[in-house]
Amino acid sequence: MSSQVISLYKKRRSQYALGKNVPISQAETTELIKQAMREAPSAFNAQSSRALILFGAESQKFWELAKDELRKIVPAAAFAATEGKLTSFAAGAGTVLYFVDTDVVKGLQEQFALYADNFPVWAEQSNGMAQFAVWTALADAGIGASLQHYNPLVDEAVRKEWGVHGNWQLRAQMPFGSNEAPFGEKSYMEDEARFKVFG
Ligand SMILES: Cc1cc2nc3c(=O)[nH]c(=O)nc-3n(C[C@H](O)[C@H](O)[C@H](O)COP(=O)(O)O)c2cc1C
Repeated sequence: MSSQVISLYKKRRSQYALGKNVPISQAETTELIKQAMREAPSAFNAQSSRALILFGAESQKFWELAKDELRKIVPAAAFAATEGKLTSFAAGAGTVLYFVDTDVVKGLQEQFALYADNFPVWAEQSNGMAQFAVWTALADAGIGASLQHYNPLVDEAVRKEWGVHGNWQLRAQMPFGSNEAPFGEKSYMEDEARFKVFG
């Protein structure tokens, strides 16, 4: 059976060779990211995911801030490799920073005490769905991306630089840009180990 959506899922891959030569405008990219996040599901329709969308110099600034923080903790001998990696993320057109609004989570915990333990988990799951929705939408538009996690190392610097409030908890970073190299090989585990089907 052929499915358009599965073809699209296959198109979404981790792209580490990013460039600035993207096929759509900044305004179109912004709208695409917004629409993807709007349509992503969330527990109780809480809409707890937030995003900071950085283009051009603002995106590069983010990766510079990340380098500054990493320089403090990575041994000098190993730093060149780290720096090279971050430079490759900065080479793209932009970066989406994904957050969970912890005020929304707290509000739900107070309102529905029975599910209090679940709300932080559901907020993470919802954030992951938002990330997947955006990543796939970008892929559909011919834009490559990868998913990074330099939080909580960069949290304070991000708060200061872009005036992000403390209730926005940084969860992931998605550098995006033009696809400057083919995707790497991807292996798949055996269906027999992954699925159990009855009926
Ligand atoms: C929750 C999650 C966390 C990930 N964290 C990272 C990461 O920190 N750095 C990275 O380069 N890729 C990260 N990835 C990307 C995976 O390594 C990648 O999706 C996987 O190897 C499959 O490759 P594909 O994206 O090309 O399909 C993450 C993916 C997920 C779903």
